[in-house]
Amino acid sequence: MYRTHHCNELRKRHIGQQVTLAGWVHVSRDHGGVIFIDLRDREGLTQVVFRPEENAELAKQSHSLRSEDVIRVTGKVAPRVAGTGNPKLATGDIELLPSELEILNRAADLPFPLDTEISNEDLRLTYRYFDLRRPRFARNLRLRHQAAKATRDYLDGQGYIEVETPILSKSTPEGARDFLVPSRLAPGKFYALPQAPQQYKQLLMVAGVEKYFQIAKCFRDEDLRADRQPEFTQIDIESSFAEPDDIFALTEGMLAAVFKATRKIEIKTPFERLTYREAVGRYGSDKPDRRFRMELVDFGEDFKSSSFKVFRGALDAGGVVKAINAKGFASLTIGQSDELTEIAKNFGAKGLAFIKVENGEWKSPIVKFFTAEEKAALQSKLEVAEGDLILFAADKWDIACEVLGRLRLRIAEYQKLLEGNEQLDFLWVTDFPLLQWSAEDNKWNAVHHPFTRPKTEDVPLLDAQKFGEVRAEAYDVVLNGVEIGGGSIRIHEPELQEKMFGVLGVNAEEQQVMFGHLLRAFRLGAPPHGGIALGLDRLVMLICGEQSIRDVMAFPKNNRGIDLMSQSPADVDQRQLRDLGIKLAGEKNA
Ligand code: AMO
Ligand code: AMP
Repeated sequence: MYRTHHCNELRKRHIGQQVTLAGWVHVSRDHGGVIFIDLRDREGLTQVVFRPEENAELAKQSHSLRSEDVIRVTGKVAPRVAGTGNPKLATGDIELLPSELEILNRAADLPFPLDTEISNEDLRLTYRYFDLRRPRFARNLRLRHQAAKATRDYLDGQGYIEVETPILSKSTPEGARDFLVPSRLAPGKFYALPQAPQQYKQLLMVAGVEKYFQIAKCFRDEDLRADRQPEFTQIDIESSFAEPDDIFALTEGMLAAVFKATRKIEIKTPFERLTYREAVGRYGSDKPDRRFRMELVDFGEDFKSSSFKVFRGALDAGGVVKAINAKGFASLTIGQSDELTEIAKNFGAKGLAFIKVENGEWKSPIVKFFTAEEKAALQSKLEVAEGDLILFAADKWDIACEVLGRLRLRIAEYQKLLEGNEQLDFLWVTDFPLLQWSAEDNKWNAVHHPFTRPKTEDVPLLDAQKFGEVRAEAYDVVLNGVEIGGGSIRIHEPELQEKMFGVLGVNAEEQQVMFGHLLRAFRLGAPPHGGIALGLDRLVMLICGEQSIRDVMAFPKNNRGIDLMSQSPADVDQRQLRDLGIKLAGEKNA
């Protein structure tokens, strides 16, 4: 046996036994010639003590040990000298007195210390295999494994089977840019890496699989953020003969199993549901963080004959006047108020009106326009008190909501409203709009994806070309303000799918080129079906209490999409390009 125990195993009951441990030198201390080593493996630490009086030769050898050297030691388990036990360590009652030391590998100068937080993430990602030795990452990787295992066990128990789908596939329109892979055998043609297995899972329903899942790698070439990576993992699910309630119950049961397996907590199911209109109207976001209040309040009725032209103008134009009360935030700094105004403008507001409530007075240049009734309405609906800051948005519904929603989140950060908050706030957001006008593309785009089903009662609106009013049979699951999953009931009728493609500006010929396989499949007996996909990385990030999905992925890209460890993406050989029939633009001697 290479080793008899791991480094978090030996207890008082092992005293007197001969054992062998292997691992890394975590720290090494010299106390007047006696060398104390904390030997580490993935399970924990054991103290190893080299005493010159017991074995002079070995003690001498142990002097050369440095942090992160890899060693194997064999010796006797002994009680710690009275009073030197370490109650913080599970192995703190014992130590190992070695009779053999084998240096398996030396560690060169370390790129950074492992026992302090390093803020330079690029440096940490360059030495990712080293940084991953931190207990925090060891824990995160293990929790991720447990989450994936609980997912598989739960779905298996519900009759779902895991089916792999191709990585070399054809572009699915999930809304991001595709990563393309050139084909050598079909020069000039490209595979696309899947943005999600969407079409394949629907085709599996046509194939009669009925209950599919896959822990699937997805690839999207989009701008990166803390919760977005170019390659990420979905828990992808599809079911035939399912209604939204079936998908909700399945997802809730799965999340309950995952939180039980990882965090040992029971989460409350079923989750509350909000429609998209309610979520955006009350929290200014389709992924509301409800762990703090500061809700958006509507003042359309109250200001409909206001003499303040900004409010009146917005209402007359069919818009809204909404406000939030940032309790106790009248004391904000000038820098903070400038930043809030900047955020409002970035999200389309023409301005940002504030009222500060200080010394019993409402301080704002706009208060002089308000009647006593208007003030009373603000007072009662916003529960205005000394020290409060009221912020207004008067605009089109979606702009006013988004602006106040963004301000709400930023103010919560300023006020540290979530510090120490351990709550898990799950909810469903339902009834998303089916279509969204894109000024950039000058056409209607699918909010979710083109395969999402319009609500049956809204199909007449689709026929009447009232595209902005059609609701989809689509839903997101949200945890603490993070969209952890999204799905829908799908279109399974070829005629409706063709109609939908038409609305999206895909003509009959393009439909055949891009989606011919799907339309043909739908003509061979496609069952009604629907599903969901959860972002495994985001879910595990929340389980681990991390702020970025990079911290729960073994080898993430940095925020510029680069793998700093292997320096990828990288140049390739001219020969490789020639084989693929590719010439780089700007190539000199091509
Ligand atoms: P959607 O595009 O909403 O739906 O993706 C589902 C979930 O995947 C996660 N996610 C990401 N995580 C990390 N990095 C990214 N770049 C990234 N993009 C998405 C999110 C999101 O909620 N095929 C549909 C699902 C369906 O309709 O069944 C789909 O992919 O947590
Ligand atoms: P004005 O009459 O344009 O000087 O605006 C008076 C106040 O209302 C200023 O504090 C503006 O920032 C604010 N304001 C202007 N437009 C809006 C708007 N659409 N919503 C909320 N406040 C606004």
